[in-house]
Amino acid sequence: MAAFFGLIVNPYMTSSIAAPANARLTTEQRVQALLAKMTLAEKIGQMSQLNASDGHAPDYLGDDLRAGRIGSVLNVVDVDVVNELQRIAVEESRLGIPLMVGRDVIHGFKTVMPIPLGQAATWNPDIVEANARAAALEAATTGVNWTFAPMIDISRDARWGRIAESLGEDAFLASELAAAMVRGYQGEDLSAKGSIAACAKHFAGYGASESGRDYATTNIPENELRNVYLPPFKSAVDAGVVTLMASFSDLDGVPATANEFLMRQVLREEWQFDGFVVSDWNSVRQLSVHGLTANDRDAAFEAATAGVDMEMAGDAYISHLEALVSEGRVDIETIDTAAANILRAKFRLGLFEHPYTDPADLPPIASKEALQTAKNAALQSVVMLKNDHDTLPLNAETMSSIALIGPLADAPYEQLGTWIFDGDPELSVTPMHAIHSLVGHELDVRYVRAMKNSRSRASEAFDEAVEIASDSDVAVLFLGEESILSGEAHSRADISLPGDQAELVRRIRATGKPVIAVILAGRPLTLTNIVDQVDAILFAWHPGTMGGPAIADLLFGVESPSGKLPATFPRMVGQIPIYYNQKNTGKPPTPDTVVHIDDIDAHAPQLSTGMTAFHLDAGYTPLFPFGHGLSYASFEYGDIRVSVEEIGLGETVTISAELTNSGDVAAEEVVQLYVRDLVGNVTRPVRELKGFRRVRVEPGQTVRVEFDLHTDDLAFYGRNMTLMTEPGEFHAWIGGSSDAELRTEFRIAASK
Ligand code: NOJ
Repeated sequence: MAAFFGLIVNPYMTSSIAAPANARLTTEQRVQALLAKMTLAEKIGQMSQLNASDGHAPDYLGDDLRAGRIGSVLNVVDVDVVNELQRIAVEESRLGIPLMVGRDVIHGFKTVMPIPLGQAATWNPDIVEANARAAALEAATTGVNWTFAPMIDISRDARWGRIAESLGEDAFLASELAAAMVRGYQGEDLSAKGSIAACAKHFAGYGASESGRDYATTNIPENELRNVYLPPFKSAVDAGVVTLMASFSDLDGVPATANEFLMRQVLREEWQFDGFVVSDWNSVRQLSVHGLTANDRDAAFEAATAGVDMEMAGDAYISHLEALVSEGRVDIETIDTAAANILRAKFRLGLFEHPYTDPADLPPIASKEALQTAKNAALQSVVMLKNDHDTLPLNAETMSSIALIGPLADAPYEQLGTWIFDGDPELSVTPMHAIHSLVGHELDVRYVRAMKNSRSRASEAFDEAVEIASDSDVAVLFLGEESILSGEAHSRADISLPGDQAELVRRIRATGKPVIAVILAGRPLTLTNIVDQVDAILFAWHPGTMGGPAIADLLFGVESPSGKLPATFPRMVGQIPIYYNQKNTGKPPTPDTVVHIDDIDAHAPQLSTGMTAFHLDAGYTPLFPFGHGLSYASFEYGDIRVSVEEIGLGETVTISAELTNSGDVAAEEVVQLYVRDLVGNVTRPVRELKGFRRVRVEPGQTVRVEFDLHTDDLAFYGRNMTLMTEPGEFHAWIGGSSDAELRTEFRIAASK
């Protein structure tokens, strides 16, 4: 393959399109110059992306590449094959246009980072950016120049398997982290080696699939769409994301792939996006399955006119767009715009200058830095949900033995989670191995898997588990979901611990030994049936390659847990959708209005005035709220202040509070700012996250944490769907979770 590097023989590559002599042309001039040379078929070719997932792609795609009928391929990660595909495109096609080479690089490549939901639990944009950077560097060694990430669908439904891939339930947190991911993948210079194009997906509303069933219908009123589901996409666009992917889902009766409102009005007109939109896998042809169109030709018409620039893994465009243009149904401007959007991305990626990949230009796979990045991310992603009587951290010096029990203690593949096409389980360090390395010289470390996998219903091995627990100072249970239980098309209706895990917990509890649950999972789980049976819970998501060492360090207090929940944990499935930034309703629940069905002395009277908004069997609070996460330090918040009580539109108020670490270990805390706009042109959430900051506080230290809030930060879409900030009263809370109690107030004056 060495012959490819730098050897470019296509005449167009040395002509006015890409020659250094013309480097002074702007990207736009180069796009237009190239477009002017293209035939209709070549333009439509750019709009087509094909699967190239086996090693023979050059054989079966070669002729189409030579004829300019392919703009992009996906799922090829053999650098020699990628270079050969690029060589055919660049040297043997008439115009020599290089290929976008796409791949789902969702949370790492060979080195796997925590699942995106776990990354969101770090509340740390620097960590998220570093993860994406490390993933880009590894993926780029194969010639992949485009990842289908970040996935930034807001989800308020943990049944949905794809919540694992998301950044959680909150628009503000997801927006901050979406921008960080885009920066990480695309780097400071998109054309630099190791930078790859990002793709914000799935545009839009996919996370609201009915009952969390993947691909199911979504019905989202425009106001909610704009206030909740679209902000992360706007943030990704502002961060310079080169591409977006249209969602599979049906939004209010118009599937996203044919949704002109989303792609033309919002994305192009309002946000001025000038990259390109790719469909999801075969989602153009699926418009007919949805029942929106009768055949592939109509599907191609709907998708192209709505603004899908490139069709992924389907042939509706290549088969029908030419005819649709000749019939006059599709304007040539539509085709020109789509092709130009794609070419613009290719120029920005620098593909015309360096279409080929030499892995030697990039760091090796699983470099020391990549593994350290993965460990840092895992460390900060773990959320300590409870820690009664300071059961954690464990002190190896005062113990002699530890029992490790459960199907996920030593499961190198399972700890990687969903979407790890290229992830290498051989690189995984499991908790069992990491605990051995950390304390094996001091402690007797015993291990019983107890269950074949997380779903097993066979309990024969429980006796052995009980035996080692009884003989040890402490039992650590590694529970949760194996990786296949979350991800695309892997939704669950019951999100409690699967199989006989709850029974295993009960059996170990009965030994009387301290019990710690380390839970690895792709989603929030309903833990109601085990939460009182354990002394402490570390919720580790699927923590990736370096999950083991991170968990070992947290268990033994080398580091303090500092993750915070990016999604609410319900008590039971029937509470879903449950999320912190709900509306107040006309009948908000309070502790004294709640009646519980199991309380035989009480009853909820039937009154003509009604009662309040709660469930008879679940109340109205979650098991663990958004933003929750404990520490080995003791954090106390106090002295909340506003810089001024009243500001005018266009001004900034500073809200601050003191944070004291009254414990005896240094630790990081994610300080969170929530705001409520008391009266609005449309009803406003009871709280909204408006700022967060990770701070390290030494024992005995007090720091003041400040947040600047500009009135633009308080803007929302009102009844007429325009973004505006309304004068009025606001409440603000600072604390360590969404149920923070430390409150202050300020006002925006009508005019000042
Ligand atoms: C379908 C998924 O919805 C999307 O997220 C992914 O990028 C594509 N398949 C390509 O694998």
